[in-house]
Amino acid sequence: MKHERFDTTDRNAAIFMAPAVAKRYGNPAPFAAEAMILIRYKEAFAGKRVLDLGVGAGRTTQYLAPFAADYLGIDLSPAMLALARARYPNVRFANVDLREIGKLQPKGFDFIFGPWNILSAFNHEERLQLIRRVHNLLVPSGVFAFSAHNRDWKFAGGHPLAKPLRPRNVVDALHPMSWVNYLSRKKLRHEEKDYAILNDEAHRWQGVFYYIDRDAQVGQLESNGFEFLEALAEDGRTLRPGESTEANGTIHYVCRKS
Ligand SMILES: C[S@@+](CC[C@H](N)C(=O)[O-])C[C@H]1O[C@@H](n2cnc3c(N)ncnc32)[C@H](O)[C@@H]1O
Repeated sequence: MKHERFDTTDRNAAIFMAPAVAKRYGNPAPFAAEAMILIRYKEAFAGKRVLDLGVGAGRTTQYLAPFAADYLGIDLSPAMLALARARYPNVRFANVDLREIGKLQPKGFDFIFGPWNILSAFNHEERLQLIRRVHNLLVPSGVFAFSAHNRDWKFAGGHPLAKPLRPRNVVDALHPMSWVNYLSRKKLRHEEKDYAILNDEAHRWQGVFYYIDRDAQVGQLESNGFEFLEALAEDGRTLRPGESTEANGTIHYVCRKS
């Protein structure tokens, strides 16, 4: 396995430190797959202890905190947390690096949420460690729901002009920073058997993210003490075993601590 040639995690986290970027994360609408999870797994978080990973500006807080007995949203970005705290002054937020969640006390969460591809921000070793630590923080039968970049997405590993010529795609593709970032990070890409490290159009190609296909992700969960419950497509449908996922940039997963 290749070593990371620079700390992709720190660079990914740096994207969200800017107040101007944080402001863009106020959109309150849940994604379709998130909405489905919030409805279907309400019993897992209503009246229970909830941890929201990489909570950002608190987009998901409003869907979890009013129902939870106890809610904690954690994030590394002070700019994000300032917005979350201003929006929800009575809710608990903490400035925590997800690489340090092993130190959170007390443990015993019933529901841990990792929305908007937060697990993709980490390299392979850190991601596995994060999954193990989430497992350790959960009560027996506690639920972990999160989303991840899909390696089987038809645009995974593409370039700024690879997507269909819609106005938004054209504006992004023609922006000089898209090409500066794409070309400078291209050399950081690498493909491994179970995952790939790729950059993509998010934040004008600044990020370098972890992509994994559904089967490999399920294997990763099962080999770390989780029972896989379901994977959801972007439109909120439960993906059938063997169904093509090429239309999905993101897949949502729900699993339970065995
Ligand atoms: C794509 S945003 C999603 C924010 C929020 N969860 C949402 O759905 O709107 C990713 C968030 O993860 C946070 N983040 C990135 N790396 C982190 C790290 N190492 N530890 C904690 N938070 C991190 C960023 O600051 C940012 O708020």
